[in-house]
Amino acid sequence: MPVSSTTPVIHTPARHVMDNSHAAAERVARSIIETVRQKPRTVLGLATGATMEPVYRHLVAAHAGGAVSFAGVTSFNLDEYANLAPTHPGSYRSTMNRLFFDHVDIDPGKTFLPDGQSRDRRAAAQAYEAAIVAAGGIDLQLLGLGGNGHIGFNEPGSAFSSRTRQVALHISTIEANRGFFADGAVPAEAITMGIGTILEARRILVLATGSRKAAAVRSALCGTITENCPASALLAHPSVTWIVDRDAASLMT
Ligand code: GLP
Repeated sequence: MPVSSTTPVIHTPARHVMDNSHAAAERVARSIIETVRQKPRTVLGLATGATMEPVYRHLVAAHAGGAVSFAGVTSFNLDEYANLAPTHPGSYRSTMNRLFFDHVDIDPGKTFLPDGQSRDRRAAAQAYEAAIVAAGGIDLQLLGLGGNGHIGFNEPGSAFSSRTRQVALHISTIEANRGFFADGAVPAEAITMGIGTILEARRILVLATGSRKAAAVRSALCGTITENCPASALLAHPSVTWIVDRDAASLMT
């Protein structure tokens, strides 16, 4: 179903098809490094998921080699599970600490994730939006892609005007993330930036690798904006770059 009766302007995003997932992750990392070197006080929107792990490995290695400093950076992660202590190994806070924050010079006080433990989720979501605005807005948003086309935890059917809020996870998303939980107990809910929030980033970088993402990449890029594929909303943004590997690009027309 189209997002509204008025036709949004559809942009043609830049697309780079890399030979493999390693090269794709490296290209994304290079782009982030370049951005931070040009603007040390960059506000980064960060993402989690297995796809992003090699990106953070590259960033950590680049920092260790003196190629980049994150000391001036502020970061906002897309999402966090609800009702999960930040110290839980499956939480996105501990994931980000383990993969990235603990190994670079970013100020931990300037790394933000939505508060999935707050008793007043609505207030926590509003506070998150306010913090993004107070930081000056997101300069570069990193995005992965769910197998069903979700971005952040905005599942199919999410309004393109949606803001940070609590959401219920689709069963396929719960299954896809089970491997990140030793006991297999993936929370059924999360707090995510909305699609409207994501679209306010100045630039967006999408990374998708592997054949499991091929159908979602095709739907996102086929030229039709539809709530059935949340990532298709990105066609309405003027500055999006897709970096995919051959497997993820295999169904792309
Ligand atoms: C989760 C995250 C998304 C991420 C997606 C893809 O659902 N909330 O932000 O893009 O997973 O994850 P993976 O890279 O593990 O396939």
